[in-house]
Amino acid sequence: MQISPSILSADFANLERELGRIANADWAHVDVMDAHFVPNLTLGLPVVEALARVSPIPLDCHLMIEDPERWAPMYAEAGGDSVTFHVEAARDPRQVARDIRAAGARAAMAVKPGTDFAPYEELLPELDMVLVMTVEPGFGGQSFMADQMPKVAQVREAVRRHGGEIWIQVDGGVSAKTIEQCAEAGADVFVAGSAVYGAEDAAAAVNELRALVGEHTH
Ligand code: DX5
Ligand code: ZN
Repeated sequence: MQISPSILSADFANLERELGRIANADWAHVDVMDAHFVPNLTLGLPVVEALARVSPIPLDCHLMIEDPERWAPMYAEAGGDSVTFHVEAARDPRQVARDIRAAGARAAMAVKPGTDFAPYEELLPELDMVLVMTVEPGFGGQSFMADQMPKVAQVREAVRRHGGEIWIQVDGGVSAKTIEQCAEAGADVFVAGSAVYGAEDAAAAVNELRALVGEHTH
């Protein structure tokens, strides 16, 4: 069970300090948006490089961008320890995953709420993690979509069939209220933006989330 706070809800004027607030987390989730794949723009390669230089924990880069064939391996080279691309944006998801791994990072594939996982099950051998979005990607602070839990369970079942250690991440609206149903459905990596950075003590919020799912095993 791993917690990956999203710095989308952090103070962008003080990112090094904001990473220090979550040094007890497993990952720092970095939301890269290009104003094309999603209607929002955040940060890109130079900022990821800078974060990698100072982060006390590994970077979990979530690419909400077009043309992952071109960009995803560069986020691995820039210091992303895990790089997630959206399957909706990929022309050749298998190749993207292979190129991320070849560049030295864990490869992950994300599916938006309206995207079925089943057609992509055959890609599991190329993947280290599947991200099931629990909001429409683009913004922090949105409401959790509980209707995505059957998809989490479906991915867990597929991972079980396939074997190997593939993590299942949820992202969007994850909080103390919603994290347990995610774990029950089969998730084991939890992204939380506003629930962590909106708290006065971000590290305590990370510990609280971890304690809520600590008992679950898959
Ligand atoms: C949304 C991003 C999320 C976002 C989550 O597109 O991918 O990582 O930061 O924020 P919360 O936890 O506030 O929903
Ligand atoms: Zn994200």
